[in-house]
Amino acid sequence: MNEPMVATDDALKERAVAALTTARARTALLTTCVDDHDLTAQHSPLMSPLVWDLAHIGNQEEQWLLRAVAGRDAMRPEIDSVYDAFEHPRAARPSLPLLSPAESRRYASDVRGRVLDVLASTPLHGSRLTDAAFAFGMIAQHEQQHDETMLITHQLRRGPAALHAPEPPPGSTFGLPAEVLVPAGPFTMGTSTEPWALDNERPAHQRHVAAFHIDTTPVTNGAFQAFIADGGYTDERWWVPEGWDQIRKHDIGAPLFWRPEGGQWLRRRFGVTEPVPEDEPVLHVSWYEADAYARWAGRRLPTETEWEKAARHDPASDRSLRYPWGDADPTPEHANLGQRHLRPAPVGAYPGGASPLGVRQMIGDVWEWTSSDFLPYPGFVAFPYREYSEVFFGGDYKVLRGGSFAVDPVACRGTFRNWDLPVRRQIFSGFRTARDA
Ligand code: AVJ
Ligand code: FE
Repeated sequence: MNEPMVATDDALKERAVAALTTARARTALLTTCVDDHDLTAQHSPLMSPLVWDLAHIGNQEEQWLLRAVAGRDAMRPEIDSVYDAFEHPRAARPSLPLLSPAESRRYASDVRGRVLDVLASTPLHGSRLTDAAFAFGMIAQHEQQHDETMLITHQLRRGPAALHAPEPPPGSTFGLPAEVLVPAGPFTMGTSTEPWALDNERPAHQRHVAAFHIDTTPVTNGAFQAFIADGGYTDERWWVPEGWDQIRKHDIGAPLFWRPEGGQWLRRRFGVTEPVPEDEPVLHVSWYEADAYARWAGRRLPTETEWEKAARHDPASDRSLRYPWGDADPTPEHANLGQRHLRPAPVGAYPGGASPLGVRQMIGDVWEWTSSDFLPYPGFVAFPYREYSEVFFGGDYKVLRGGSFAVDPVACRGTFRNWDLPVRRQIFSGFRTARDA
């Protein structure tokens, strides 16, 4: 079991201010690099207009940090319903009476100014919301999650590039084994000690796992092209029935944003069309595509439990680490996180991020589909609201792990759980495969 991390109130408050400030800088970049027309347009029925995300970020922050934590009255009670994600599906949000871009910015920044005062004067113990500054960390994570959502909207947007970032570091798989054996045995899944872990990551509990092999790195574009070239999208044998229906109905024959030209594959990435790089993890595939590829390869997706054991279990100490590389917070040596780069790094990058058994790039680069449904851990308690996780539990959603290049470190750790519908492919999703040992 992990040691609880002890930090003083001042250190926790500094950490909270830093996380909130980092999130706001990213939000500002994502909402100032395009004009007001682009901010209010609907770039895809799958996504909200960017300006909805912007005011929703402010509204959630107001509800949790000003109203729930500090007991203040609503600043603008009439807008709560407009920014309630459960009242309005994304496709319907453009026709809501949204705040303008200028009003949205002002609202979010007014909320933030008050929040910093509240944080300074709030004792960080005595209530589950404020213990270890949990609600402040939760809201920083919420804003970063919407920053990833907004980056997806940017990827779907047509037109010239609005965002730019340096290339990720190179990678080499020379000398790396294709897969790693994870021996049978119990390990500790989830956490009870990570202060800002969300409700679905809790509590820590033991799981027994049979021996399995897992890919050392995510599946690459090159490997995925072999599946396409082998007729993978036209051979019903590889597909679960709903996946087969989906690809037929929508005439899908390659990852989203790919198109064939002159005998090669091109892809559109943030407004730039380029040849698909063979050694990069495949991106923008649905769970069905990942599952079909794995079956074609004579393998399967890892379960969520297998994924977490491969990522966190340290056989030498029999402990579950916070991250594959240990308990230290991520740095640019460990993983491709935080939108520092606007693409996954090639496989074999980030040797400093390897797990104790040598599994690579589990954190960052691409979200990894697992075979598992999104379910509560034994002893789960919804906190602080049922709509974060609990209402999504069941058989409809599949779990993704590890975070993408678009995720900030505050919203990414070895225990972090993401989920989405198995048809979704606009998200920054890839996968790796496994097999029984
Ligand atoms: C955890 C990424 C599935 O974006 O739907 C944002 C995060 N929850 N606002 C989502 C979330 C409320 C959530 N995911
Ligand atoms: Fe939200």
